[in-house]
Amino acid sequence: MRPIDEQTVLVTGATSGLGQHLVQRLAAAGATVVAHGRDIQRLHRTREQIRAATGHEVDIIQADLADLAQVHRLADEVLDRYPQLHALVNNAGVGFGAPGAAREVSVDGIELRFAVNHLASYLLARRLADRLVASAPSRIVQVASAGQLALDPDDPFTEHGYDGVTAYRRSKLAQVMASFDLAADLVGTGVSVNAVHPATFMDTAMVREAGQAPVSTVEEGVDVVWWLLTDPDLDRVSGYYFHGSKEAQPDPQADDPAARAWLRRLSDSLITR
Ligand SMILES: NC(=O)c1ccc[n+]([C@@H]2O[C@H](COP(=O)([O-])OP(=O)(O)OC[C@H]3O[C@@H](n4cnc5c(N)ncnc54)[C@H](OP(=O)(O)O)[C@@H]3O)[C@@H](O)[C@H]2O)c1
Repeated sequence: MRPIDEQTVLVTGATSGLGQHLVQRLAAAGATVVAHGRDIQRLHRTREQIRAATGHEVDIIQADLADLAQVHRLADEVLDRYPQLHALVNNAGVGFGAPGAAREVSVDGIELRFAVNHLASYLLARRLADRLVASAPSRIVQVASAGQLALDPDDPFTEHGYDGVTAYRRSKLAQVMASFDLAADLVGTGVSVNAVHPATFMDTAMVREAGQAPVSTVEEGVDVVWWLLTDPDLDRVSGYYFHGSKEAQPDPQADDPAARAWLRRLSDSLITR
């Protein structure tokens, strides 16, 4: 792998929590950092904070990942602006929501957690894959979660018996399943794809919104993602799910080829422009 100060790294959801701390660390290490956020003011504030803390600049890029047209535009902008891309960290996510909160849908009418946590990261990775291959060695890190629940092919968008925790867990397993498929597609290209549970109940906005007491620091999660991005021993490690820095077994549905094929067909049908 290239030294980090020779890499261009795109991190989604960089205006809060894990993403924000990660881009600060990447900037301090001299990487060309592309910090994605949905809110332009929060992006400017993040850039100012990083400049003040590290003396380094980060590039910013705005897109609401709850809108597939904006995910396409984000990919177009990244491809226009960056001739090289060495890492994609699909970090942006919607958590459990407040206890008892009602079901939400994306701009495209898709259940919100499935849309943002799975579909947007799926589309972005697929759209940027050729650039990552051309820039190899490169890495895709899917920030997933240990909170996983098998998807129901009869109710993929949790229209029945909705609660935010169920929807979140299904979306996070979908992310893991998609990352196994993408890793298989990219074998031999020099692009690795791994999914990770960074740390349990870090002290971030989504955890506070859910009313959960934090049990980990954000730095613990950043350390894990940093390791996946920078450890030279991981150059050929692809298609795994990690719980922290340990290889782990995701929900068994992730190892079911028929379930993965079903999810892939569904995802492809939803991202078609
Ligand atoms: N916290 C934990 O304990 C934990 C555990 C396991 C996995 N994770 C995963 O870690 C990742 C980071 O979460 P976090 O804990 O750092 O939470 P966070 O502080 O709430 O950060 C979530 C990020 O996602 C962005 N985001 C949400 N909806 C978006 C949308 N529609 N379009 C674009 N960006 C959007 C948020 O943007 P704004 O800044 O504009 O709100 C924010 O930057 C998530 O994928 C989460 O599932 C977290």
